[in-house]
Amino acid sequence: MQLSGFNGTVALVTGAGGGIGEALVKLLRASGCIVVATDLTAPMIEPAPTTSDANAKISLELSPEYGAVHAMALDVTDSNAVNALVTKVEQEIGPIGFGINVAGILQFGTVDSIDDDSWRRTFAVNADGVFYVSRALARVMTVGSNAAGIPRHAMAAYAASKAASAMFMRCLGLELAPMGIRCNSVAPGSTLTPMQTGMWADESGEQRVIDGLPESYKTGIPLGKLARPEDIANAVMFLLSDQAGHIVMADLYVDGGATLRA
Ligand code: NAI
Repeated sequence: MQLSGFNGTVALVTGAGGGIGEALVKLLRASGCIVVATDLTAPMIEPAPTTSDANAKISLELSPEYGAVHAMALDVTDSNAVNALVTKVEQEIGPIGFGINVAGILQFGTVDSIDDDSWRRTFAVNADGVFYVSRALARVMTVGSNAAGIPRHAMAAYAASKAASAMFMRCLGLELAPMGIRCNSVAPGSTLTPMQTGMWADESGEQRVIDGLPESYKTGIPLGKLARPEDIANAVMFLLSDQAGHIVMADLYVDGGATLRA
């Protein structure tokens, strides 16, 4: 089965400079989307592959044309900037068909050590940012976290902010479904990006995450590996595609079984 519904669609991606965002931008372009890639500073974008590139051959099979990309700076915590960028894109590039909230931050710390600023900053990016961008857009997808559905040690602000964004996306999905607009979330587990590696104390970090951390009651990953950014991006692509045309308000966990749930 080949996923369809992408060619020529304008896709707005936040957090496009990070690990998952970058992988998603590549897939969207390979599928023929016109991508507006945003991050705190305009993300560096790789040139479109040449036809001699092995990856390019795969891309060109997916789509007759490799999609254009526009790199722009956007701080998702600034609602005026979000509204202004959406207006500019709609006027100068075209109607936005896909919105994907990837931007997120994680500040590690037990509840007694979280100061007011850390709590507010985490919610400002992970919850308010999702609200501002989603409010300004139509067809929306959010990259949440499996921490939204299970308690995690030293991640109270992060998990609470992701739970807020997951429920927000379901309510938005309910409101927009009658208009044929689908809203869904993808909840990644531990994924090999700077956000994940930044939590590791030493080179045993990856194995410790895979094995689980009994001292903090964290299960390991039954599939025995971390997710690659592409694993998360592939799930996003499926939910955006025509083939997911009857799926709405879903929260798709992509965590190798780490939360022992469907
Ligand atoms: P990352 O740290 O590589 O990328 C996050 C991006 O968000 C960065 O490029 C950062 O500059 C951007 N960002 C931060 N604040 C922003 C703001 N105010 N406005 C605009 N952009 C902002 O992390 P990764 O792994 O790519 O994370 C992507 C999403 O996946 C995040 O929402 C994260 O919470 C979620 N996630 C990641 C997991 C992992 O293990 N890597 C696990 C579960 C969820």
